[in-house]
Amino acid sequence: MLARRIADELNCRYVSRRRLSDIKDEIDFYYVVEKERVVLRFGNEVLFFHPSMAKVRYINIKKGMGDHLIEALKLEGNELILDATFGLGSEAILMANFLKDGKVVGLEASKHIYTIVKYGFKFYKPKEKWITKALKKIEILNEDFKSFIRKSKDKSFDIVYCDPMFENPIYESDSMNPLRPFAVYDTVDEEDVEEMLRVARKRIVLKSRVGDGLFERIKVDEIIGGKRLIMYGVIEVKG
Ligand SMILES: C[S@@+](CC[C@H](N)C(=O)[O-])C[C@H]1O[C@@H](n2cnc3c(N)ncnc32)[C@H](O)[C@@H]1O
Repeated sequence: MLARRIADELNCRYVSRRRLSDIKDEIDFYYVVEKERVVLRFGNEVLFFHPSMAKVRYINIKKGMGDHLIEALKLEGNELILDATFGLGSEAILMANFLKDGKVVGLEASKHIYTIVKYGFKFYKPKEKWITKALKKIEILNEDFKSFIRKSKDKSFDIVYCDPMFENPIYESDSMNPLRPFAVYDTVDEEDVEEMLRVARKRIVLKSRVGDGLFERIKVDEIIGGKRLIMYGVIEVKG
């Protein structure tokens, strides 16, 4: 039974739905295996996998409005991309759509976010063909990017993308809010960037909120976006 399997994987207690009211006051959060999805419930909130902003951004691109991430990645369509901070994978889905032959490997350090996304990918039935295709091009691993990149070989990916949690959160971002309590809040430092540049063949792309200190600490070659709240910094691999 899936609920028992997830409890085993997470090394936590399985409780049947009938007994939930007996223990609800003792726990901070719990997983529920629903008919066609696995969710994480806490307080009045629920975390579950959904492509969220990927759909809106895809439609905007189709309308010719462009997208700063896609612009920053400069894709040819055959890249192997490391998405170092996967979250719910909304941006990974968008980038995978532009990979004819390529692939996205996503890393998520939070075991709870990883678990929700892993089962989300399994059960989510997209109405859109492009999302079905994109999901097939994504592999997710429950790994910390800091150790993963340090053990990765030189030039083992074409592009490394990193979107750490913002220093100044945008609470209006509804899709991110249920993720916040479970997220890892690592920052990116110069040594991480050196490792990313060693691992990447083409470029690295970092995402930051305007007003955060990331691009004061890390020098980038080019900033794309930034007129509003979000910007992408590109560092090209030299030589
Ligand atoms: C801002 S979210 C990424 C959102 C993602 N770009 C999307 O489109 O859904 C950042 C994610 O990175 C994860 N994270 C933070 N530090 C990490 C690390 N060292 N290794 C892997 N994942 C990490 C957080 O847990 C969080 O889920």
